Amino acid sequence: MEKHEHCQAAAGEISARLSNPERNMSSELWSSVDEYIEGVLGLADPVLQSAQQAAGEAGLPAIAVSAAQGRFLEIIARMIGARRILEIGTLGGYSTIWMARALPAGGSIVTLEIDDKHAAVATSNFERAGFGDRIEVRVGSALDTLPRLYDEGAGPFDLTFIDADKPNIPAYFEWALKMSRPGAVIIVDNVIRDGAVIESENPDESVKGVRRLNEMIAANSGVRSTVLQTVGVKGYDGFAIVLVA
Ligand code: SAH
Ligand code: DHB
Ligand code: MG
Repeated sequence: MEKHEHCQAAAGEISARLSNPERNMSSELWSSVDEYIEGVLGLADPVLQSAQQAAGEAGLPAIAVSAAQGRFLEIIARMIGARRILEIGTLGGYSTIWMARALPAGGSIVTLEIDDKHAAVATSNFERAGFGDRIEVRVGSALDTLPRLYDEGAGPFDLTFIDADKPNIPAYFEWALKMSRPGAVIIVDNVIRDGAVIESENPDESVKGVRRLNEMIAANSGVRSTVLQTVGVKGYDGFAIVLVA
C-alpha cells in the first residue's frame, strides 16, 4: 500500500479535471483522430456498421469498443491463434464480431450477457455477420453463467475479454483465470476510468473493482500483466492485458 501513495490523487481532483475546457478539447481531438484511423485503415466495413446501426436503432447504449480497439482484439486473437474465446458483456456483439474474425475453422466464442434485449440484438447481428453457428450467447448474470460454464467443462479458453459490469471485474477475472489455458490472454476493458483509477478513496464501486483487479494481478506470480491507457472516441480509458503462465 504505502509504496503506491505517491500516485494517489486528492478527492475532487478528478472532477475538476473532467470539467476543464482543455480536457474537452482533447477529447474532441481524440475522437477526430479515431475517425481518421478508422478511415485511413478502412476499419468501418459494412458488416460492422450494420451491427452498430441495429444496436443504435434498438436503443442500446453506444459503449461498444471503438473500431481501432476491435481490430486490436482481433489482432491479439490472431497472434495467439485463439480457437476458444470467452467474452463477458456482449451488448450488441460488436466486439464479438471483431474477435470472431480471428477464429480459425472450428473455433468458437461464448459471450455472456445479462440483458435479454442486448442478447437478441447481438444474436441477430451474429446471424447477419455469418457467425450464427460459431458464437453462442448465454443470457443471465455472468456471476451465474460463469460457474455453470465451468461446471460444464467449457474451455479452456485461449482469450477472454472482460467488458461487463465493472464492480464484478475481480470475480470475472477469477473465473477467467480458472478457465484459461497456459499461454492464454485475458483483456479487461475500462480500467482507467478518466484517471479515477488512481483515487484510493474513491467510493465508486467500478473504481474499486478496477483497483482490486490491479492488486490481484500484481499479487499473482502466475500472470504477466500490463495496463495500457487509451484515448479516442471512448474518451480516456484503458485495457488491462494479462498473459496467463
Ligand atoms: N463488449 C461490448 C460492450 C459491452 S457493454 C462491445 O464492446 O461491443 C457491457 C455489457 O455488459 C452490457 O450489454 C450489459 O448489459 C452487460 N452486463 C452488465 N452486467 C452484466 C452481468 N452481471 N452479467 C452479464 N452481462 C452484464
Ligand atoms: C460503459 C461500459 C463500457 O464497457 C464501456 O466501454 C464504456 C462505458 C458504461 O457502462 O457506461
Ligand atoms: Mg467496455
